[in-house]
Amino acid sequence: MEVVIVEDAAAGGETVAQSIAQLLRAKPDALLGVATGSTPGPVYRALTAKARAGEVDVSAARIAQLDEYVGLPAGHPESYRSVVLREVVAPLGLAEDAFMGPDGSAEDVRAACLAYDRALAEAGGVDLQLLGIGTDGHIGFNEPCSSLASRTRIKTLTEQTRVDNARFFDGDITQVPRHVITQGIGTILEARHLVLLATGENKADAVALAVEGPVASVVPASALQLHPHATVVVDEAAASKLKLADYFRATYAAKPDWQGL
Ligand code: F6R
Repeated sequence: MEVVIVEDAAAGGETVAQSIAQLLRAKPDALLGVATGSTPGPVYRALTAKARAGEVDVSAARIAQLDEYVGLPAGHPESYRSVVLREVVAPLGLAEDAFMGPDGSAEDVRAACLAYDRALAEAGGVDLQLLGIGTDGHIGFNEPCSSLASRTRIKTLTEQTRVDNARFFDGDITQVPRHVITQGIGTILEARHLVLLATGENKADAVALAVEGPVASVVPASALQLHPHATVVVDEAAASKLKLADYFRATYAAKPDWQGL
């Protein structure tokens, strides 16, 4: 996989937004898989700025959600559907029907998972999937020891992830749902381009294991090593435990500008 080391979170956002813009120029109705959480915010803001400046036409873009909490009431501000509508769909000026996501409040969650996997395939598959990484190495909500072949399904969050995400629920871990729907690792690997963005020192261990460790389900993000077009964009802090950091810097510096990620 390609590892791109940037100075900080803002530079990471700009780098990934440029790549998305390049994709949309080539394929205006691309299906963009989006992650939630703190990390991708700079990407969505940079892409919105490019759209508003007329650098890229996003009007035909389609947006697919990666994962969702189970059991939050419909319209809850921290449901990932609400977050994606607020942070991606609305700022880009897209209509709600440009957006697809799993139904976390469905009565039959299992059927909702199967339906979402099918809907992704029927939509032609994800062109570019943006991913964050959990401090425990998860991608989407595929927690450690998730099958590397898994499909969209219900998962139980680890205590670590619930602690990490309590900040979105007024710091109250009891408010963080225990269950989620997540695209499986096998589902994620079907996207044409995977872009994992990680910023901050608290991601350095997980990034080093995912990039330089063996492929192992105990580090779900290591599955990116199996993908023919996977890019890991990290800021200096998140790159601080990479043994091959200098090699990655030299490789990226030698790449022609037009090539993108
Ligand atoms: C959420 C998701 C998660 C997050 C991860 C990191 O849609 O896919 O894998 O990307 O938990 O979250 P932040 O960015 O908040 O550190």
